[in-house]
Amino acid sequence: MFRLERLRDDHAPELLRFETENRSYFARSIPDRGDDYFAEFGERHKWLLELQDAGTDHFHVILDGDRIVGRVNVVEAANGSAELGYRIAESATGKGLATWAVREACTLARTQYALTRLTARTTTDNHASQKVLHHTGFHQTGDTHLNGKPAFTYALDLGES
Ligand SMILES: CC(C)(COP(=O)(O)OP(=O)(O)OC[C@H]1O[C@@H](n2cnc3c(N)ncnc32)[C@H](O)[C@@H]1OP(=O)(O)O)[C@@H](O)C(=O)NCCC(=O)NCCS
Repeated sequence: MFRLERLRDDHAPELLRFETENRSYFARSIPDRGDDYFAEFGERHKWLLELQDAGTDHFHVILDGDRIVGRVNVVEAANGSAELGYRIAESATGKGLATWAVREACTLARTQYALTRLTARTTTDNHASQKVLHHTGFHQTGDTHLNGKPAFTYALDLGES
């Protein structure tokens, strides 16, 4: 049974394990976070919680028991809109987890965070991520580049979710 929890201070050690164990897996589809991210993880975690307290960013971890198996974030909220991002542990992929977590995040965005629109971006070669966005009602809004690679932009009107 999976559950979504809003990011807390005490998630830090388990989140670091999740990011470390899946680092090479994530780097196959999205840019590596870099060595500094891991070296300065504790400070960055505190900074994320400050952003969350300020109300512009909402971070969530996906738990299977005590184990973090994914994260889904709603960040940089402004004028009713925010950007969605997600990543799932390699060992937990292919079970519909990202689709479920994105749906949960959309519900929270609408009901708890007073947002009316979510946007997302994914590189054109990330077919699994595109499927997740398609399954959760996002529509493609255009083309862009993400870290030097061709990418699609997406949006979801939360009135429709
Ligand atoms: C992309 C990612 C979030 C998907 O997580 P997940 O829990 O496996 O996703 P789901 O199971 O909910 O759905 C994945 C869909 O993609 C499909 N899929 C998986 N790999 C695929 C591939 N190589 N090509 C095409 N479709 C693929 C699955 O079959 C599934 O579709 P279906 O429900 O129609 O069968 C996960 O692989 C991940 O974290 N990747 C690395 C980070 C990343 O890319 N994040 C997104 C950045 S925009």
